[in-house]
Amino acid sequence: MTDLEHDLRTRACNARDRSIEQLYADTGRLDDLTMQVGGLVFDFTKQQVDRAELDLLAGWAAARDVTGWRARLFGGEPVNSTEGRAVLHPALRDPSRSWAALGEDVSADTARSQAAATAFANAVRDGTYCAGDGRPFKSIVHLGIGGSDLGPRLVHEALAPLGGGALDLRFAANIEPHELNAALHGLDPRETLVVCVSKTFTTIETLTNLAAVRAWMSGAVADDGPHLVAVSAAPDTAVIMGFDRARVFDFRDWVGGRYSLWSAVSLSVEIALGPDIMADLRAGAAVMDRHFESAPVLSNAPLLGGLLGWWHHDALGLTSRAIIPYARRLRLLPQFLQQLDMESNGKRVDRDGRPVTVSGPVVWGAEGTNAQHAFFQHLHQSPMVTPVEFICLATDTEGAPDRSRMTLANALAQAEALMRGKPDQNAPHRAFPGNRPSSMILLDALTPDALGSLLAFYEHRTFVEGVLWGINSFDQWGVELGKVIAREIDADLQAGPSPARDPGTAALIRRLRIRWSDGTD
Ligand code: F6P
Repeated sequence: MTDLEHDLRTRACNARDRSIEQLYADTGRLDDLTMQVGGLVFDFTKQQVDRAELDLLAGWAAARDVTGWRARLFGGEPVNSTEGRAVLHPALRDPSRSWAALGEDVSADTARSQAAATAFANAVRDGTYCAGDGRPFKSIVHLGIGGSDLGPRLVHEALAPLGGGALDLRFAANIEPHELNAALHGLDPRETLVVCVSKTFTTIETLTNLAAVRAWMSGAVADDGPHLVAVSAAPDTAVIMGFDRARVFDFRDWVGGRYSLWSAVSLSVEIALGPDIMADLRAGAAVMDRHFESAPVLSNAPLLGGLLGWWHHDALGLTSRAIIPYARRLRLLPQFLQQLDMESNGKRVDRDGRPVTVSGPVVWGAEGTNAQHAFFQHLHQSPMVTPVEFICLATDTEGAPDRSRMTLANALAQAEALMRGKPDQNAPHRAFPGNRPSSMILLDALTPDALGSLLAFYEHRTFVEGVLWGINSFDQWGVELGKVIAREIDADLQAGPSPARDPGTAALIRRLRIRWSDGTD
């Protein structure tokens, strides 16, 4: 352990029970720990950290070479080492710059791919691209899962009120049939466009849903070809699966699934809400990219956010993180960030393959104020302390200013209550221990550019934390084993348990087979 790390960990031991509120006695604290980036204000003042620790954390960022890794990421070097890939999602948000992935200039190709998606979106929207029988499309079904679903779904739900609503966009991810059935409910196959999104085009959930949608269309549509659009980093595979090459929109392997919403992966959203909204979303993300690339460490929101994340989780031992958007239209944010953070940083080894003892935290959450009436009990009184991230809107474009003010009052109240607590000598069950850290991100309004900046903040914060832990945030090998065994078990459920099954699983398979048969195996 270096002297610096030793100092940080010693200070963390002493900081655990220190009063956060008393840290406000430092008159520079508000300035030090509040920053504005585009339409976002970040308030980190209710964190369990003082000025001296911030300086140590800046040293820690230098020791872990965060700015070096940042330059490698933006420079298109193989930051995703286990897959030998560059990680260049920022290239999707700023076409005015030139970008290289592993030394190859990718600017022109990125512009081509985006222009193709935008032209198609416009053609569907103005009716020049229509169904085989000449009808304009009225609905879109987006098929995809994980990174091919959560980002577009979140963006659509957040920004739908700004997009006109002429086209009814629905999503289906799960292999379990009810989500797709609900998505198709009430739709006319003759007026429905299917956008099938899969980076690899091998994902069983998406391919199963695609087959089901084609079956649904088959009775009503003579030729489903014009109704089917694919988005993939494996365009040849999509063509093999029956998509017309002209309707396969591509992106490159340097776009990670959970970082892909900026690419043609959001084609369905671009059709439904219009290209201008996607352009503004990307522009907002580019604002955060430039800030992340250039701002000094302690006034750099993703960098400071990542250092505080490391401080919470690794030094103070707080093992989870709650994301609470006080905005119904951001209710999918906790789920989106759960994938972004946990699939990126839930890793067992560092970049050199050595086991790590700590990597990313457990991420969870739900929309406020609903969550206050569900799990805030735990946040306020459980001995397990969870740092909270509040995300709020300064103005709500949907009107009802009283309700939007009351929503903000609740978020601010929760942050204050978590920090201050409330003693009660007579009734311990009524006492609030307080001293619980939180941060607040205030969006000026839920506009496309503010949302773009917010999502880019979280992407970069995730990367910074990964660098601090020395891990590769851009692979996801931990999802593979379950997929392989699921295929084997699907066969076993049809034929009976193979000797490879563990006794418990084999017994359950036998029980299910009996249940599905006439009662005998
Ligand atoms: O199983 C995890 C995962 O590979 C994610 O990383 C990815 O976003 C998702 O599955 C979907 O993959 P694809 O886009 O290739 O269908």
